[in-house]
Amino acid sequence: MLNLKINSMDYQGMLEAVLLATQDAISVVDEKGIHILVNPAYTKITGIDFDDIIGRDALFDIEEGESLHMKVLTGKKPVGNTILRIRPSGKTVVAQAAPIIVNGELKGSVAVLHDISGIKDLTDKLEEVEKKLRALTYKYKPEDIIGESEAIKHVKTLVEKAAKVPATVLLRGESGTGKELFASSIHAQSARSHSNFVRVNCAALSDSLLESELFGYEEGAFTGALKGGKKGLFEEADKGTIFLDEISEISLNTQAKLLRVLQEKEIMRVGSNKIIPVDVRVIAATNADLAKEVQEGRFREDLFYRISVFPIHIPPLRERMEDIPLLVRSFISKFNDEYGRNIIDISIDALNVLMEHNWPGNVRELENIIGRAMIYMNLNERIITTSHLPELKKSRITTERIEIPSNENLTKLKDVLSKSESEHIRKVYYTTKKNKTRTAEILGISLRSLYYKMEKYKID
Ligand SMILES: Nc1ncnc2c1ncn2[C@@H]1O[C@H](COP(=O)(O)OP(=O)(O)OP(=O)(O)O)[C@@H](O)[C@H]1O
Ligand SMILES: [Mg+2]
Repeated sequence: MLNLKINSMDYQGMLEAVLLATQDAISVVDEKGIHILVNPAYTKITGIDFDDIIGRDALFDIEEGESLHMKVLTGKKPVGNTILRIRPSGKTVVAQAAPIIVNGELKGSVAVLHDISGIKDLTDKLEEVEKKLRALTYKYKPEDIIGESEAIKHVKTLVEKAAKVPATVLLRGESGTGKELFASSIHAQSARSHSNFVRVNCAALSDSLLESELFGYEEGAFTGALKGGKKGLFEEADKGTIFLDEISEISLNTQAKLLRVLQEKEIMRVGSNKIIPVDVRVIAATNADLAKEVQEGRFREDLFYRISVFPIHIPPLRERMEDIPLLVRSFISKFNDEYGRNIIDISIDALNVLMEHNWPGNVRELENIIGRAMIYMNLNERIITTSHLPELKKSRITTERIEIPSNENLTKLKDVLSKSESEHIRKVYYTTKKNKTRTAEILGISLRSLYYKMEKYKID
């Protein structure tokens, strides 16, 4: 009920003022569905003049779809937020309508239309800008890859070569070594740089989702499928590059389909048998040993050969420690911009601490440590010192100390070796967050012998 503190004489004037002032369109029909009242905002939003609507019935359709008023009159119930497209003006509105009931009798229906065309235009524009921004952020220049070590220079040369040919590239390297950075750099330096670079994280999607994401689907292909179907990422990447990150994670089933796309250069959407040609350069990345995955039957051999036409191995940070000072300085300047700070440098002591760490998380770990240090630094501090760094284990394998048993319990050499072997495996295994493939990689042994040793030393 309305709360009115005015006498009935003022009531009509007040009501008129409200109807005139409101920015939302209001229309009222009587119990037969004949329009009896609209406000000025109605004309503004719908483009229909007062004279053209008063006296017309609700079926005089101003919108695409069913008349809300008729729904209310037949159902005798309010109709909640409904998105409508108004035909004369082309505007999009969100509408609500409710029955007018006086003394228990249905007297008509009132509808309120709120114009959301502006919001819709903005959302569309935002989407467009986001798309452009995505394309821009992937326009890495070769100088964005920091490092002067021989190892990284070699990789940069390979990247330049890869950019010049259309071949499929396979980037191999531990987590955080910069595979994504290199992939986008290849795209940015290639002739396809003006088209999309589309990244797919194969590990993040279930098998069926991955398939519909990659190839798209037809309307009604499965429950939850969008009306009109959906374009797949291969189509998005047409004339550009698709980056299949963590490719070792895709199922054998999807591998077969991927192989077909690479061979035939055409796709079929899920639930359709129409062939769509696509022109896409593929860059794949993995931190697994794909050759071993092939041996163990988890990765198709033919697909492996298809994607490893141009393999590029990115060495772990511990094999190019001389890049650390350069990387640190580039991260300082990056975070200065991001956090609005003014850090000048890092102390020699702090740098030395970084030089003694083993970097299982590679460049990403270094980037995080610098970022975190800069967040916690006081505003008057200008230099990163050891006090800003977290406790880093001195875990460089070469500098590692092996415990020598005391005189009282001199043991056999074999036992000392086993003890230190089991400790070392345990350490690497936990540092890699129990990633067996990576543990084996770091230890330089096969996965099979890692399993054997873990069982022997009861590591889990
Ligand atoms: N040589 C480099 N120069 C500058 N920044 C680098 C370099 N290598 C890596 N980075 C930065 O380190 C972070 C990790 O890199 P990226 O995401 O490319 O690694 P990744 O190999 O894809 O890791 P993961 O396997 O975990 O996905 C990114 O922020 C990236 O910009
Ligand atoms: Mg990555």
